[in-house]
Amino acid sequence: MDRIRITGGHPLSGEIPISGAKNAALKLMAASLLTAEPLVLTNVPRLADVRAMAELLKSFGVGVQITLGDGLGEGDGYRFHAATIASSFASYDMVRKMRASFQVLAPLLARHGEAKVSLPGGCAIGARPVDLHLKALEAMGASVVLEDGYVIASAKGGLKGARIDFPFVSVGATETAMMAATLAKGETVIGNAAREPEIEDLGKCLIAMGAKISGLGSSTIKVEGVAKLNGAEYAVMADRIEAGTYAIAVAIAGGDVELIGARRDDIAPLLNLLQQAGTDIRETKRGIALHRNGGRPAAVDITTAPFPGFPTDLQAQFMALMTVAEGTSVIRETIFENRFMHVPELGRLGADIKVTGDIAAVRGVARLRGAPVMATDLRASVSLVLAGLVAEGETIVNRVYHLDRGFDRLEEKLRAVGAQIVRERE
Ligand code: EPZ
Repeated sequence: MDRIRITGGHPLSGEIPISGAKNAALKLMAASLLTAEPLVLTNVPRLADVRAMAELLKSFGVGVQITLGDGLGEGDGYRFHAATIASSFASYDMVRKMRASFQVLAPLLARHGEAKVSLPGGCAIGARPVDLHLKALEAMGASVVLEDGYVIASAKGGLKGARIDFPFVSVGATETAMMAATLAKGETVIGNAAREPEIEDLGKCLIAMGAKISGLGSSTIKVEGVAKLNGAEYAVMADRIEAGTYAIAVAIAGGDVELIGARRDDIAPLLNLLQQAGTDIRETKRGIALHRNGGRPAAVDITTAPFPGFPTDLQAQFMALMTVAEGTSVIRETIFENRFMHVPELGRLGADIKVTGDIAAVRGVARLRGAPVMATDLRASVSLVLAGLVAEGETIVNRVYHLDRGFDRLEEKLRAVGAQIVRERE
């Protein structure tokens, strides 16, 4: 298995292009199942998860073509054509490998009238049930049965618009309800909807496909069902988590970097905290520029929360920064119950972190020292890469496949701004 070797202590300088957002692209790909016409997506990130979703769509009979690519099976543009749906079965093997596969349930059900999709089960960061997804579909008239680890859903006469009030904010369940509602009869009102920019991106693409949706970006989304959706061409939004990760890279390693395509509003809470911690930030015509001289960052506290709060997907990376801060930072994770797996690994590099329940107290140290590390999820893995940028000597990050699931050409992008980082094949 590949690993990444980083030699710390090199400031970063130059430009980093931000790729399309993984967590938007995967749902937009699932949305192609809602129409018999082609959906063309551009600015698609080159990621293992995108390839996995394309394979899953092919298994339903969707025609998948790379429209902007390198001729070697990698592309930034794709055409998805679900002229007919030949199968509506998503296996355990598929959904277990990538939870986002579960998002095919609503579009399959809405267009095809039935679907059998494996329950995703728990994962490294928490139990992650799907009860809210299923309740939303039931409220719209679907019959939902759980059998041998599978969700078997049917709505032979079609789905019906409904009032759905989520007890707490869920990105995935909001997307399920929104996609299902596009083809339901009548109006659906989604209360306590997630406001994440990826939801807005999905909504805008659905509108381009002919859906009638209002209230995007607010906590009440209304969808007036239509008889059918059409094809469209849509560019995936820039990845705010990738942008935030590279912003933290500059804060931890020092230097001057412009993040091309990054949008301030998408990561405002992070940028405000980075400023408080001592990084200069300004918006440019092409994105966001960050500047930081040497010296340790100031300690600041964070609590993760649904958008527009501090994103859980940047918690591990921010913790990496706080390990070398002046003072103690209190980090509270409120979204997932087990999202501190990076703590013992950061400890191997010399970080001083104590976890009590959902709180991590990070006492900044003057220096980290390189060591071999590995992590069990995507964002945790990249937090170790960030720590490696500032650690003395060599850090070796194992289990690189996590990074390949969600960071498009990570080492290439970091090397281009002066980081000493190489991938080694075993
Ligand atoms: C999405 O997951 C993202 N994944 C996650 O990113 C991200 O961390 C999360 O949203 C929060 O922003 C994708 O978009 C593919 P939720 P999702 O439903 O939709 C509980 C990454 O690293 N819940 O908003 O699964 C759930 O257990 C990933 O890219 C239920 O209890 O997240 C969690 O505690 C990791 N029942 C909370 O809600 C449900 O039916 C929020 O989860 C649904 C969720």
